[in-house]
Amino acid sequence: MIQACDLRCEYLTSPVLGLDVIPRFSWRLKGNGKKQTRYKIIVSDNFDDIERGIGNVWESEKDSSKNLNIEYEGPKLKAYKGYYWRVKLWDEKEEGPWSVTGYFEMGPLGDWKGKWITMPSPLSFKDPAHRHELFYAMYFRKEFLLNKEIEKARVYVSGLGVYELYLNGRRVGNNVLDPASTDYNKVALYSTYDVTQYLTTGKNSIGVILGNGRHIRDYGYSKPKLYLQLFVFYKDGSLEFICSDETWKVSHGPLRENGIYFGEVYDARNEISGWDLPGFDDENWSEVEIVEGPPLKAQLIPVMRVCEVIKPKRLWLSSRGTFIVDFGKNISGWVKLRVNNGKKGEKIIVRYAEVLDPSMDQLDMRNLRLARATDEYILKGQGVEIYEPRFTYHGFRYVEVEDYPGTLTSDDIEAMFVHTDVEKIGNFACSSELLNKIHSCVVNSQLANLMGIPTDCPQRDERMGWLGDAQLTVEEAMYNFDMAAFYTKYLMDIKLSQKEDGSISDVAPPYWKRYPSDPAWGTAYATILWYLYFFYEDRRVLEEHYDSLKRYVEFLRKNSPNHLTKLGQHGDWCPPGDKFPKRTPLILTSTWYYYHDTLILSEIAKILGKKEDEHEYRKLAGEIKEAFNRHFLRKVEDHTGRIVCFYRGIKLSPKDRIPTTQTCNVLPLWNKMVPEECREDVFKVLERLIEVDNDTHFDTGIVGTRYILEVLSENGRKDLALKLLLKEDYPSFGYMIRNGATTLWERWEKLEGIGMNSHNHVMLGSVDTWFYKYLAGIKPVAPGWKRVRIEPYFPNQIDFVLARINTPKGLLEISWKKQGEKYEVQVTISPNMVGTFVAPDGFKVSAVNNKQVDHRSTFEIEAGVYNIILERVREC
Ligand code: BGC
Repeated sequence: MIQACDLRCEYLTSPVLGLDVIPRFSWRLKGNGKKQTRYKIIVSDNFDDIERGIGNVWESEKDSSKNLNIEYEGPKLKAYKGYYWRVKLWDEKEEGPWSVTGYFEMGPLGDWKGKWITMPSPLSFKDPAHRHELFYAMYFRKEFLLNKEIEKARVYVSGLGVYELYLNGRRVGNNVLDPASTDYNKVALYSTYDVTQYLTTGKNSIGVILGNGRHIRDYGYSKPKLYLQLFVFYKDGSLEFICSDETWKVSHGPLRENGIYFGEVYDARNEISGWDLPGFDDENWSEVEIVEGPPLKAQLIPVMRVCEVIKPKRLWLSSRGTFIVDFGKNISGWVKLRVNNGKKGEKIIVRYAEVLDPSMDQLDMRNLRLARATDEYILKGQGVEIYEPRFTYHGFRYVEVEDYPGTLTSDDIEAMFVHTDVEKIGNFACSSELLNKIHSCVVNSQLANLMGIPTDCPQRDERMGWLGDAQLTVEEAMYNFDMAAFYTKYLMDIKLSQKEDGSISDVAPPYWKRYPSDPAWGTAYATILWYLYFFYEDRRVLEEHYDSLKRYVEFLRKNSPNHLTKLGQHGDWCPPGDKFPKRTPLILTSTWYYYHDTLILSEIAKILGKKEDEHEYRKLAGEIKEAFNRHFLRKVEDHTGRIVCFYRGIKLSPKDRIPTTQTCNVLPLWNKMVPEECREDVFKVLERLIEVDNDTHFDTGIVGTRYILEVLSENGRKDLALKLLLKEDYPSFGYMIRNGATTLWERWEKLEGIGMNSHNHVMLGSVDTWFYKYLAGIKPVAPGWKRVRIEPYFPNQIDFVLARINTPKGLLEISWKKQGEKYEVQVTISPNMVGTFVAPDGFKVSAVNNKQVDHRSTFEIEAGVYNIILERVREC
């Protein structure tokens, strides 16, 4: 029997409110059946019917194994209306039970009745470092009467840049830094809250605090602005709307300066008691100003939240009398501070940093560059005061607290790890402490850089959605987290950044207008799209983005005379010793990505049944490959007179007989561009570049690092991939960890001071994929995890491995341990998934679930639990 669990509507968990698209349903599977042979989805507009198994709106029963993205095909769904849904599954033998009930509700569907409002002339301040103008936080309020009994109430709200919502004095929701950032000239996301319990029949009031966020002049926007629509559905069936309009009032309040890089200044003496309650006298508050606003779109991604609260690991007094606190790991977020019996008007300053000065007596904030990263709290002087910032965030492990009244103890301060609250679906552990630490660094860096957009870093004056960083880590992120909704939104950001000529910006949303992107960055469009389809069998995204992706590839074509791409400024960014890839030509990485994206486009055309395009782009890819090989593939005699084949890099000195780099060869090997007769030779050159020329170290920047371990593993050298990962001297991941890293560095070097040396960049995090894909050996080989290949790797240095992935189909787990000369492997595979188990090189399967088998090297598996014994093949 099988059952649907973890119901998702548009990738989100129930209740999904405010939808503005035709919903798609997905579920995971559990139970002891093998296959889903049939499903029945029912959708009802009332709970009683759904409980009785009746879909009074839509029922769909199909012989199908599909469990992902099944689109609703019933009658038109109505604005503001809620729907219940359930699924029942059949396996090869029998009908299963109904799933639990999910709920989704449509939003206004274009029925926008409110106006965008702002403060006519807000006080502004200049971020001293940035010298750009920001505004004091604005406090909006509106009082209103509800005169009947309330059945349900919803708020649809978008506050640009960031807002906090209060109803009758109570904070609504636990989202922080909402909404997720977008290009506000094109679209703003609205969040939907169920506020039924916040309202009463009689007098009510709404309060909203609005901050700058990323809606700033520097990024091309004007003053912060607010849109809110409250929808009330009375028990008697009538409706009422309360919307942002000219009847609202606005004022400044205790939160003054605020900016994501700047930090915050909060003057508690200016707190306005009762401002968000009915009956408050707002006589002195200003009228609001009506302004234009962008189209609204539902925010359909997990929201940002305080996801972890961290207690201090160490706390000490500096020679200046300030307190320094170490939270033990580098995170994104802020601290919450508790003060007792301070004096009115005293100011506490909290500074944030990733690193300490070697004296341990002060923070080293130099690598934050222009980000002030400081919060200030001015006390009101009444008993216990608790402060945490709301419209800023910092990347930090250490804070310094200055002018704290009395003695700061560990009970007075805690760190809030803030990020988009994506579901963790992957777990990995093994017997190597070092590999576990690398994994944990990647996971921490990944989370700290999920801020409604995938950022490069959380601490310095950037925090941009750099496409390169995002594309290089998409596969790793999808092994570790449910990224479907997040990337769906990010693909929209990329699409909106596209210009008429097809080019896209290096960063999306394009707060920095960096057109055209380096192709190694721009590939994020094709790459993320492809992985989203492949991991979640999402056809809709392919349809939505096909035309724009085609325009992007055509843009590359226009800029690639003789099929060699002239664009690019970063290339194999940040190899050891430099920012710029001095020896790996830009034209090589750019042309390689042109080929890569053209192939993806032709693959997508095939899936969408666009035959002509499929052939056109396959042909184009062939021509690019030829040009690439003609231009870069070289055969020369080495000093022993042997002919060697390699992809040429930049010659830095006349003695450079074989001018090449690991990356130059890794890239064409990865997607099989190397002519068959040269493949072995090119691979040998790569081995030599690693083992001999670099003493088994990476010589790659972020691009090469993404592919190198995979190329080694696919060509019989998993051992070499592992050796690279187990290194502890420079340049290596172990080197970062030996130097105290809890998140990945931007550079292979341990750098201090001003400049480019973030200690929390995820762009090298692609290595984490290797742990799942090669060491544990889990590889999806068909869209939506329908089919997997399981081929663990048993190196001598490691005794056990565990990898567990809650895939979009269901649980997939493998663990293996060494037992003397044998290895015991346990595999759990969810219903509706099939796979091939492949014994590692040099091993044969001798028993499965306690039954002897005749030393097979591969066998097919389907849903179930397998206990597999493997033995070394004796060498004859
Ligand atoms: C960012 C990166 C980004 C790069 C592009 C850096 O300043 O932090 O991660 O991809 O610039 O050159």
